[in-house]
Amino acid sequence: MKHIFQKGTDASKPTLLLLHGTGGTEQDLLPLAEMIDNEANILSVRGNILENGMPRFFKRLAEGVFDEEDLIYRTNELHEFLNEAAAKYEFDRNNIIAVGYSNGANIAASLMFHYQDSLRGASLHHPMVPRRGIELPGLTGKQVFISAGMNDPICPSQESEDLKEILENAGAAVELHWENSGHQLTISEVKAATKWYQAL
Ligand code: MLT
Repeated sequence: MKHIFQKGTDASKPTLLLLHGTGGTEQDLLPLAEMIDNEANILSVRGNILENGMPRFFKRLAEGVFDEEDLIYRTNELHEFLNEAAAKYEFDRNNIIAVGYSNGANIAASLMFHYQDSLRGASLHHPMVPRRGIELPGLTGKQVFISAGMNDPICPSQESEDLKEILENAGAAVELHWENSGHQLTISEVKAATKWYQAL
């Protein structure tokens, strides 16, 4: 997968896995990683799907309606890519924290829905429930931060509540942070995510 890897200055820190939103690239979230932890490794990945020229991490059938078969395939592809990247760049495979926005948050959530040990934790900005009606792996010990907008036209508030509940039922510790905003990524939610990250 097309990506950027930047080695951090402190090997004890996690690797931040950056996953952009629809139409973004691996450049988008680099400033965000800088705010969260400027000593950690950064692995920023570009989604392999193109929707009318816009990169994404998996196909969708309509706005908010996911192509489940492709979601499963692409989730596996990203999981395998993380295995390969950890070996190639020699970072701890068990210490990856995803930072995803929108479509990138959805594939990060999907990694946790399908693989017990793909991520140590995730900061999910404006995510949806990637799949419903499946049994999740045990996620005890995993840490998740969700930020959601109270007036998000793409992601109704129930969706964020449901995602929290599904992850908690699988054993994850979840913090849900509300912003008085829509779908956009705000500085104040990044600050809240940074606080969550520093307490890990
Ligand atoms: C998605 O398709 O993953 C979500 O609807 C949000 C988006 O990226 O537009």
